[in-house]
Formats: sequence, C-alpha cells, structure tokens
Amino acid sequence: MNNIIILGAQWGDEGKGKVVDLLAERFDIVTRYQGGHNAGHTVFVGDRKFVLKLIPSGILRGKKAVIGNGVVIDPGALLDEIRTLAAVGIGVERLLSISNRAHVIFPFHRLVEGASENRENRTAIGTTSRGIGPCYEDKIARRGIRVADLLDRTNFRALYASLAEDKQTFARAFQIDGHIDYDRIREEYEQFGERIRGMVCDTSRLLNEAIRDGRRILFEGAQGTMLDVDHGTYPFVTSSSAAAGGACTGSGVAPTRIGGVLGVSKAYTTRVGGGPFPTEDNGPGGERIRKAGKEFGAVTGRPRRCGWFDVPLLKYTAAVNGFDSIVVTKLDVLDEFDEVKVCTGYRLNGRVTDEVPATSKELESIEPVYETLRGWKAPTRGATSHGALPDAARRYLDYLAAQVGVEIGCISTGPERNETIIVPGSRFESLIG
Ligand code: IMP
Repeated sequence: MNNIIILGAQWGDEGKGKVVDLLAERFDIVTRYQGGHNAGHTVFVGDRKFVLKLIPSGILRGKKAVIGNGVVIDPGALLDEIRTLAAVGIGVERLLSISNRAHVIFPFHRLVEGASENRENRTAIGTTSRGIGPCYEDKIARRGIRVADLLDRTNFRALYASLAEDKQTFARAFQIDGHIDYDRIREEYEQFGERIRGMVCDTSRLLNEAIRDGRRILFEGAQGTMLDVDHGTYPFVTSSSAAAGGACTGSGVAPTRIGGVLGVSKAYTTRVGGGPFPTEDNGPGGERIRKAGKEFGAVTGRPRRCGWFDVPLLKYTAAVNGFDSIVVTKLDVLDEFDEVKVCTGYRLNGRVTDEVPATSKELESIEPVYETLRGWKAPTRGATSHGALPDAARRYLDYLAAQVGVEIGCISTGPERNETIIVPGSRFESLIG
C-alpha cells in the first residue's frame, strides 16, 4: 500500500510544509483532510516563499491537490490562494479538486468566535480568529452549509435563510454588536459557488478511484496531534481531528488503504495560543530558540512559545497515530547551544510518569524531569548525510529515537528541499519508495 499520512507530532508548525514538498514528487495526489485556513504551510521554491493555508502544497510541484470533506473552507481565503497560485502560472483549475461535502465558513462564524473568545469568565483558547471552531460547531449541530449546497441556488437560499436566522437569534441573545449584511453575504457566496463549480466533486470517489488505479496519495495533516479535538490538550485545541484517524474520516478513504504514518517533530517544541506546555522555557533558553528558529506564526505572526523536546508527549502522539517513522526538523536551530535539555518524564503529584494526563489542569501542574545532553556547537545547516552531522548531534537524535521508541528516518537541516537527510535503510526510506 503506497498511501501515506504525514502529520504534526506536537502542537503544529513542525515544518510539515517543507517535508510534504519534498515527498510530493513521489506521490500523484496530495490531500488535506481537516482544518481550514488556520493552518499555514510555508514552502520555499527557489527563493520564492509560499504560505499556503488551504490548498495542499503539492500543487506547487504540479501535483493534483485535493481539499477533502473534513476541511472547512473560507471562500475568500480559497479564492485568494487560487489567485496567488494562478499568478505564478500554476494551473489551479486543472489541478485542484474540492470536496462537495466540505463545510463552508461564513463571516458570522468569525464574529461568533470573537464574542466567545472575549466573553467574561471564559478562558480564551487563543484561536487564529478564522471562524474555524464555529463552522465545525454548525457542522456537528447539523445546520452547516456544505460546498454542494452552494451549487444548488434554491437549496442554498433555504439553508442560508435558516442559518442566518439562527445566527441573528444568537447575536441578540448574547448582545453581539456588529452589523451583518446577510443578503450581501448570500449573494457573495452564490458567486463563490459559481467560481469554484468546476473544481467541486466527490473527492472520496476521486481518491478511491485513483487508489484503485494504482496512484499514490499523500494525506497531509494540518495543525498537530496535540491540537486534535480528541487527543490534544482539550479545550486548548483546534476543532478538528488532526490525528491520523482524521485522515480517513476527513477524506473518505478507508484505513485499509493506508500504508504508513509519518510524524513530524521539531528538535525542540513550540506552540502558539493558550494552553498547557510542560517543557516551555520562559527564560533565555526559550528566547534563544525563538530567535534562532524564527518562531513566529505563519498565519497570525504571533511569537511562538518555545521549549525543549518532550519525550512523553512524543511517545503519546506516536501511539495515537501509530508513527512508522519520525521526521525531525530544525535541528540547526540548536547548533549554538552548549547544552540541550530533553524532558524524559513528568513529575505529577509526587511521582514520575510518562503518561500524558487528560486534563489541562494536570498538564499545567507537571514538573518536567530533564536530562541534559552536550550540545554540538557546530553547524548542521544544510547537512545531507547522517555522517556529516557532528557526533553530539547524532547522539542527540539517537537518544530521542531510543526514548520515544520510534526511528528517526529523516532529518531536516534547513528550509530548502535538498537540506535533508534520509537515513539509509530506515522505514522512512522504504515507505516513501
Ligand atoms: P483555531 O484552530 O483557530 O480554532 O485555534 C485553536 C488553537 O489551535 C489555537 O491555540 C491556535 O493557535 C492553534 N492553531 C490553529 N492552527 C494552527 C496551526 O496551523 N499551527 C499552530 N497552531 C495552530
């Protein structure tokens, strides 16, 4: 089975964009299965930088790109991206397929989100303010509007009228200010339907037929496992199934058609937004990582919170996703450190454990147990072979793999595609074929 899921092993921003870009040439189709334009995949092609939020980055390599049913789509964001790609000569209309079952984000979703985040006595999640959560709320509440609905004007008008009434009732009840021109939005969305009509289809059927014909699919996760609505640091999570299981529900491809799962992890840890982060370093160490790693959000520009590699967390995400192999990114960010810390256990209620607790309250009260390893104080940037890494850097990676219990099959040593080490004989090498 040649189809692979690749996803973040931490809180997102692990550098999946570059790895997906690297792998894309070996696959026929790249598909997104969850999230929306809250994700930001940064890809460099030559000296051009692309930040794709909705469209799978494989399209930059001329690959077929699919936005699966599990994704929520903001039409404005999608059209912006289509325009950006078309402007550099990419045949978006030919390469992009959009699920007719994907749900649609409306401007009032953003308003509802703002009101909810700013409500008194509520701990803010620190969302990306893109209306993602409220759109998924409508989906699960069975009042959402899907792409297929946009294409049927009569049906759309009826569904939209009902949804708009719902939102007006909500706005009145919660005294949410802000004038919304519901008629104008409806007209805009009707036009949007027309604009994308040619790219909309049953993408589950498309993917399953492609698999039947022997074509290879790469499933690209957005966010990261610790932001998964079930397995992440609830409630400080995103509203979708970012973990590997989401690839099946969010694309309409069965688990029996998936051949492997790759996890992407930074050589350290970052997170944006609120919520527990056991290995966060609020001192000079974290600041140095932020500076060296240019750790600022691709979508919101917010400074990312930075800290050390967390073994219990990786063991947890490896189990939840069944990682066959781990890709470690941004190793070079640690090049100048005299020492690097690795969290090997959590001290909680007087005992050391490697179990990730269910509640954010418990996670907040964890005291990490650290092992300190010698730094390598030598450049790893751009290394393309395992042998080219300094001994201490190799020891660091070997230590992480042994602790987590999963091989590190690929190491990213810089943003360019060729700044990558694929470990010979690894499961990673055999999976990507
Ligand atoms: P939402 O996805 O906008 O609802 O935000 C929920 C949480 O997920 C917040 O902590 C966001 O910062 C975080 N988040 C959402 N998308 C990303 C991403 O692509 N990378 C990192 N964090 C993200």
